Amino acid sequence: MAKVLVLNGPNLNMLGAREPEIYGNRTLSDIHERMKNRAKEARIRIDFFQSNHEGILIDAIQKANHVYDFIIFNAAAFTHYSIAIRDAVAAIDVPVIEVHISNIHQREEFRHTSVIAPVALGQICGLGEESYMAALEAVIYKLKQ
Ligand code: DQA
Repeated sequence: MAKVLVLNGPNLNMLGAREPEIYGNRTLSDIHERMKNRAKEARIRIDFFQSNHEGILIDAIQKANHVYDFIIFNAAAFTHYSIAIRDAVAAIDVPVIEVHISNIHQREEFRHTSVIAPVALGQICGLGEESYMAALEAVIYKLKQ
């Protein structure tokens, strides 16, 4: 059975309450629930992990190597400056799909850069919670190939 890890970085545990005009009203658990249902349909095992801490995210990325087939990753603010997280993504064999709820390219200049994008399989952003669902569809499609 194929295995997918959904990894979320800092402040995403506050979805629903956090700047709803940007990030919407749905909680991270709501999004996870939707992903779980879709993964079940597609007969994929899906696991979820969120941390506000850089080192804990790096540990999770390293542990995911040779365990998961894909990682769907919203690194949140770390996207824009964490070379350590980028290096962790580059160090593993598992393809990583970068996701963002908001369109980082339409926002403040400091959000336009992703240090993770060059080592990710691809990036999906700006679709709200559908960014996660679209990433999962891509995974399902790629697993069938
Ligand atoms: C985010 C965008 C980041 O710039 C921001 O720091 C986040 C969330 C998004 O999902 O839109 O925390 O990754």
